[in-house]
Amino acid sequence: MEENKQTSDRTPTPTILVIFGASGDLTARKLVPALYNLGCENLLPEHFHLIGYGRSSMTDDAFRDSMKKAVSEYSRSPFKDDLWNRLSPNFSYHAGPYDDLDSFRALSEKIKEIEDSKDVDFQCLFYVSTPPGVFKPILENLGNSGLARRHRRTAFASKVVVEKPFGRDLETACELNAVITRRFEESQVFRIDHYLGKETVQSLLAQRFSNVIFEPVWNRHHVSCVQITVAEDLGVGSRGGYYDRSGALRDMVQNHVMQLLALTAMEPPSSLDPEAIRDEKVKALKAIRPLDLEGDDTDVVRARYRAGLVNGDKAIGYLEEEGIPEDSITETFAALRLSLDNWRWKGVPFYLRSGKRMARKVSEVAVLFRRPPAILFSEGDRFNVSPNCLVLRIQPDEGVTLTLNSKTPGIETRLQPVELSFGYETTFQSNTPEAYERLILDAMNGDGTLFIRGDETETSWGIFSPVLERWAEDGSKGMESYTAGTFGPLAADKLLLRDGHEWRLQAG
Ligand code: BG6
Repeated sequence: MEENKQTSDRTPTPTILVIFGASGDLTARKLVPALYNLGCENLLPEHFHLIGYGRSSMTDDAFRDSMKKAVSEYSRSPFKDDLWNRLSPNFSYHAGPYDDLDSFRALSEKIKEIEDSKDVDFQCLFYVSTPPGVFKPILENLGNSGLARRHRRTAFASKVVVEKPFGRDLETACELNAVITRRFEESQVFRIDHYLGKETVQSLLAQRFSNVIFEPVWNRHHVSCVQITVAEDLGVGSRGGYYDRSGALRDMVQNHVMQLLALTAMEPPSSLDPEAIRDEKVKALKAIRPLDLEGDDTDVVRARYRAGLVNGDKAIGYLEEEGIPEDSITETFAALRLSLDNWRWKGVPFYLRSGKRMARKVSEVAVLFRRPPAILFSEGDRFNVSPNCLVLRIQPDEGVTLTLNSKTPGIETRLQPVELSFGYETTFQSNTPEAYERLILDAMNGDGTLFIRGDETETSWGIFSPVLERWAEDGSKGMESYTAGTFGPLAADKLLLRDGHEWRLQAG
C-alpha cells in the first residue's frame, strides 16, 4: 500500500474520471488498462475515482468485474491483485441516456457526494468515448447540468476529452467546435488523436529539434520529397458498418497522417509550451495548397482492395466483407500529393498514403534528400549513387534509419547504400507506455501539447472536405482497386512517377 503514496510532479490533482461509453470496446481495450498501468507507475492521484457512464444498466459490481477482465486481458503490465484491490473500490457505474439532463444532474450529485465524503476538491475529467452521433447531447448536458463549469479557472476546472472522429467534414467539425466552445474554454478541451500519444511520434519533435545536424538540410534546398506511409495489413474486420461511412481519408489521413505531416513540416516552435507547438502545426497545415482534383493528373488517388494474399493468408475483397453494401463507394486506400506554399517547403512534394489490407503493417516518415551534384561520384550510372534518406520508423520496429552511400571494399571504386540505424527496442529495452496512458495522464494534468486544437481540426478538414465532396459527386468513377497484400494501386505509383519519384517502400 505504502508504495503508491509516492507521487511525482506528473501526479495529477484528485480526479474523478467519467467515461461516457463505458460499456464500449475502447474503454475495455484501451482506457481502463491505461488507467491500471498509470496506477502501476504510481501516476494516479491518491484520490482517484472512475465513473463509467453508459446506456445499458449494470451494477457497480458488474462494471468492476468486466473491467477486471479487461485489465487482465489487455494491460501492458501483468495483473496484480493488490493494485486492483486498491483501485477498484473507487470504480462505479452510472446508467443513463446521453440526452437526458436529469441523468446528468444525478451524475453531478454523485460527483458531489464523492467530493464531500473525502473533503478535498476534485477535478472532473469527462471522457467522451461514444459513437459520434451522441457527442453533441453529452457536451450540451455537461454544460446544462453545470458540470462543465465546476471549479472553473482553478486547478480543479473540469476537462473534456473528445474521441475521434471529430466531425466528418469541415461543416460538422465546425458545428462540434461551436457546441464545445459554448460550454468549455479551449484550455479545458482535449481532442484525441492517439497517434500523438505514440512514443515515436513524440520523438519526432525531439529528433528534429534536439539534433543540430537536421535543421540546415530540412528544407527545399536539400529535400527532394517527403513520403509518409501509414499502412495496415488488417482489413475492416467486424467494423464494416462504421468503416463504410468513413473510409481511409476520414479514418486515417485527415487525422493521424496529417499529424505526422504537421510535425515533420512545422517550423521550430519558440518553446515547448503547448500553444507554441500547436501554433506552428496549424501554420504548416495552413500553408498547404488546395488539392488539384481536375483532369488525369489529380493530386489524389482512392482505391479499395480486392481479394489477395496478405502475409501468405487469403484475404477477401472489401465488397465481400461483412456489413459492406455491394454498391459501396468507400475507399480503403488513399494517396495524395500535397504542396506547402511556404519558404521552407515550396516545391517539395509531400506524398501521403494510407490503407487497409496492404502488404504489411508499417508507418513511417521518409525524408528523401537531393542527389549530390553530378561531379564526382554521380558520373552517369557508373557509381549508382542513391539519394540519402532519413526514415523515422513509427511502427513496428520503432526507430530511425539514415541511408548513406559508402565505398564497398575492393580495388575498384564501387558505391553501395548502407544504413545507420537505431532501434528503440535494442537501445532502450523499455516497456513503452501505450498511447492512451500518456494521453490520459496529460489530460488529467491539463497539458494540451499532444491534443488537437479546434483550429487545427478545422484547417485539416478544410483541406479534405473538397475532396470528399468531389468523391461523393463522382460515385464510383475514379475508384481504383488494388490487390490485398500490395502497397496500393498503380495510380498511386503514377502520382510520384510523374514528378520523377517513386515510393521508397514497395511490396516484395
Ligand atoms: C484508428 C482507425 O483511428 O486507427 C482504425 O479508426 C485504425 O481504422 C487504427 O486501424 C490504427 O491505429 P494503430 O495505432 O494500430 O496504427
